[in-house]
Amino acid sequence: MSGLRLTVTDRGEDFDATGAAVIAEAIAGAPGAAIVVATGRTPMGAYARLARDLPARSASGLRVFQLDEYVGVTPDDPRSLAGWTRRSFVDPLGVDPDTVVWLDGLAEDLAAACRAYDDAVAAIGGLDLAVLGLGPNGHLGFNEPPSDPSSGTREVPLSDASIASNAAYRPELPVPRSALTAGLDVLLAARRVVLLVSGAGKAAIVHPALEGPVTPEVPASFLQRHPDVVVVVDRDAWES
Ligand code: GLP
Repeated sequence: MSGLRLTVTDRGEDFDATGAAVIAEAIAGAPGAAIVVATGRTPMGAYARLARDLPARSASGLRVFQLDEYVGVTPDDPRSLAGWTRRSFVDPLGVDPDTVVWLDGLAEDLAAACRAYDDAVAAIGGLDLAVLGLGPNGHLGFNEPPSDPSSGTREVPLSDASIASNAAYRPELPVPRSALTAGLDVLLAARRVVLLVSGAGKAAIVHPALEGPVTPEVPASFLQRHPDVVVVVDRDAWES
């Protein structure tokens, strides 16, 4: 039996509230949970609700891991995904930024930076929770197609589809050509995955990802083999 539980919501508040509730449920009773969190537009409303609704400091002990980062972008650059993670999740939830495991896209030795990240994941016994969005080409983090389930934390050249979708975040600035991503291996090993999918722009990929053949060409399709995935998808994505 599939470990995938699907909730289809209305767009907007219903989606955000449901996303916040499934994240809150996953971290309830696990104050020191190791959690990797996506940036992107999809989870922003859920994070804002989470910060508003969780009792003060109840999330401050979370061990947060960054999901992905552009190569060559400083933390104070408006494109920085570390900065976005901090503004949207780490600071509003009262997590000490010094405890976050960041992906260092400025490291001289990027492979060593990825190993350090994987070592930190291993040292904590693996991730408890991965909160992920769905790329328009089926990527998770920046595990671009093709990515097989053993793909590690690494530097990835960005696909044209990802460059086009990411350009919308900061239209005035060019999208870097490569990124570091948490490996599909560590994401799929998370004890629970929450996948948030919204908007008509995801309609063409959400059904292949969740119901189509399991293939490296759609990296998110490997979630079909995961024992504990909660998917929240709005009607615009599910029914378009
Ligand atoms: C981006 C990021 C992912 C994100 C996904 C969806 O390219 N690499 O981490 O989850 O694509 O983004 P959005 O929520 O903006 O649609």
